[in-house]
Amino acid sequence: MDRPAPREAILQLFHSRGREFVSGAELSALLGVSRTAVWKQIGALRELGYAIEAVPSRGYRLLTTPDTLIAAELQAGLETRVIGREIVFLTSTDSTNLRAVELAEQGAADGTVVIAEEQTQGKGRLGRRWASPPGVNLYLSVLLRPPILPWDAPQLTFLSAVAVARAIAAEPGLQPEVKWPNDLLLGGRKVAGLLSEMRSETEGIHHVVLGVGVNLNMTAGQFPAELRYPATSLRLETGHPVSRRDFARRLLRHLDRLYAEYLETGFEPVRRAWEGFFHLAGREVEVDCQQRLLRGTVIGIAEDGALLLRDAAGHCERILAGDVRPVKGGE
Ligand code: BTN
Repeated sequence: MDRPAPREAILQLFHSRGREFVSGAELSALLGVSRTAVWKQIGALRELGYAIEAVPSRGYRLLTTPDTLIAAELQAGLETRVIGREIVFLTSTDSTNLRAVELAEQGAADGTVVIAEEQTQGKGRLGRRWASPPGVNLYLSVLLRPPILPWDAPQLTFLSAVAVARAIAAEPGLQPEVKWPNDLLLGGRKVAGLLSEMRSETEGIHHVVLGVGVNLNMTAGQFPAELRYPATSLRLETGHPVSRRDFARRLLRHLDRLYAEYLETGFEPVRRAWEGFFHLAGREVEVDCQQRLLRGTVIGIAEDGALLLRDAAGHCERILAGDVRPVKGGE
C-alpha cells in the first residue's frame, strides 16, 4: 500500500493517541517534512473544521473533528475485517462507481471503498442521474471480489440493501422499507438507491462494485425538481442533521458482517433479512415490466433475486425487472 497522504497520516496518528499530545518533531519525522510544513498541514486541517490545540514544548492534540468523510476519520475504530480496509476519499469525482471500477482494474483489494463529498455525474439505474450535491449525503462504492458464480452476483445487491436498511433503522424512530429490487424507502419516499456493476467471465467474477447513495442531510429545496419518485432524507424524517461519518461507519460495519456471513453460509440469511424489511409479501401488487403489466400476490424473492408473484390462476411468475406498486384495496 502507498504511504498515506500527509493529512491522512496526521489524522491517523492523532486518532491513535486519543487525547494525548503529539510533538511537532514526531509529526515531522512521520511525514518526512520540516516543522514548518507540519504547521501548514495543521492549518489546512483547521480550515476543514478540525479543532487542534497547539501548546509550545508539548505539541498538538486533536480536540474535535468535523463531519468529514476523510479516510482516516472513517477508519478510526472501524474494526471491519474486509470492507474498508482500504478507503479512497475524493473531494469531488464524476461517479464513485466509475472510480471503483478503475481501481478494480488496477488490482485494488476486496473490500476497497471509494467515497466522495460530491459526484458531478452520479449514476442512477437505467441511465438516470443521481443527485449528488457536496457535503450533505453519502455517495460510496464498495469493490468486492467474492468467490461466487456470476449469476449469484445480484444477491450482493440484496446484501447491500439490508446493510443500508440496518444502518437507517439504527436512527431512533426510523423504519426503512426495501422496495424490490433495490430502493430504500422511508414513509413511502425514496431515501437511498443502489447500483451494482459487475465484470465477469463464465467461470467467475473479476469484481462487483456496489454503489450506495443515501440521502442523509438533503433539505427539500435540494432535491431536483424532475424526480421520478417522491424522495426524502434522514434529516427530513428525523428533524435533525445526521452525522455522515457515523452513518458511513455504521454502514461499513453492517456490510462487513453481512459479507462475511454470506461467504460462509450463502444467500439464505440475507434473503430472510431482506424480507424483514419488505412489506409487500402477501400483498396484491401490479408490476410494470415495460412490455407488460402483471398483477398478483407477492410470494417473496428467489435465489437470484427475482420477484416471485402468484397470479390469479395460481401460477408462480418470476420477475427479473420491473416497477412494483401495491394495488389499492388489495389484500
Ligand atoms: C438508483 O436508485 O437509481 C441507484 C442510485 C445509486 C447512486 C450511487 S451514489 C454512489 C454510487 N456512484 C454512482 O454514480 N452511483 C452510485
